[in-house]
Amino acid sequence: MDKTERPPLLEVDDLHVEFRVRDSVVRAVNGLSYTLAESETLAILGESGSGKSVAAQAVMGILDTPPARVSRGEVRFRGENLLALPERRRRAFRGDRIAMIFQDALSALNPVFTVGDQISEMFQVHRGMRGKAARAEAVELMERVRIPSARTRLRDYPHQFSGGMRQRIMIAMALALEPDVLIADEPTTALDVTVQSQIMRLLKELQEELRMGLVLITHDLGVVAGVADRIVVMYAGSVMEESPVRELYRRPAHPYTVGLLASVPRLDRRGEPLVPIKGAPPDASALPPGCPFAPRCPRAEEICTRERPALSRVGDGHSAACHFAEEVFGAVAN
Ligand SMILES: Nc1ncnc2c1ncn2[C@@H]1O[C@H](COP(=O)(O)OP(=O)(O)O)[C@@H](O)[C@H]1O
Ligand code: SF4
Ligand SMILES: [Mg+2]
Repeated sequence: MDKTERPPLLEVDDLHVEFRVRDSVVRAVNGLSYTLAESETLAILGESGSGKSVAAQAVMGILDTPPARVSRGEVRFRGENLLALPERRRRAFRGDRIAMIFQDALSALNPVFTVGDQISEMFQVHRGMRGKAARAEAVELMERVRIPSARTRLRDYPHQFSGGMRQRIMIAMALALEPDVLIADEPTTALDVTVQSQIMRLLKELQEELRMGLVLITHDLGVVAGVADRIVVMYAGSVMEESPVRELYRRPAHPYTVGLLASVPRLDRRGEPLVPIKGAPPDASALPPGCPFAPRCPRAEEICTRERPALSRVGDGHSAACHFAEEVFGAVAN
């Protein structure tokens, strides 16, 4: 097969995930779709509770089922639907082809083993290496993520590292098997601002070096600029807008995105007041029938509470799920 005809690296197609909790159903992910190409960085932006982590766990195959259930959709890796695979075959993708890093490195690392043991174990379990060779690989990886004095620090436990260094260790573990896809779920949220940008720079560098596809999950629009190629704006478990990053900043097509952009400080708009979006996201166990953003939307009309808008195209690689996307897009463009 011609290389250009290969199926996309990762496709999430109409993913639905729900939780059955006592007598209600929490619809955490409601028709999420995106595609990721090799070497591409796709940012998934959404407020807390919008379903970002649940969707990422579904892609990784690490959801607890029950209480969670993938009720619809597919997750395709090079065309193969991972959700249809038996767990034994699914496991082969985890770590090896798709890896994930989490917001909270301290709880993701095992407190009773040294970081050297934890990184070496990746090579022992997945690559069948012996102790000494695995440790040599671990040192190399720790150097790659720029942990100073890697050889001696191998013997330290997670709590002996700073937050930023622990996040580097998690990145090292995620990259150990050179995955094709890395999902980073709010990787810098727990860190202070200077460390955040160091970690983002490191991630980006490693991604380019390894030609990985990177799914960068964040609630912070500031993290996205200069890092991501494309962006998916998520709200109440589904996509509101998808666009190349620069285009999204210049010409948003969804009222929710317009609201988000107005609520973050921008260097080129200094002095203009920031306007937070009023209200709160809908309860995932009682989603409104029409547009999920309708209760907060300044442009909402009667149709919005009745009909859920489909994702429709407004430009090159740019689409939005709003009945009035064309108008919003046009208004901002002028
Ligand atoms: N174990 C669970 N049981 C019930 N609801 C859950 C569970 N885990 C997550 N949820 C719900 O799923 C929704 C999405 O959560 P999450 O993906 O963690 O949001 P985000 O990562 O965007 O902040 C939330 O409404 C959350 O309350
Ligand atoms: S569909 Fe209606 S409520 Fe939803 S974002 Fe568009 S204008 Fe607002
Ligand atoms: Mg989350």
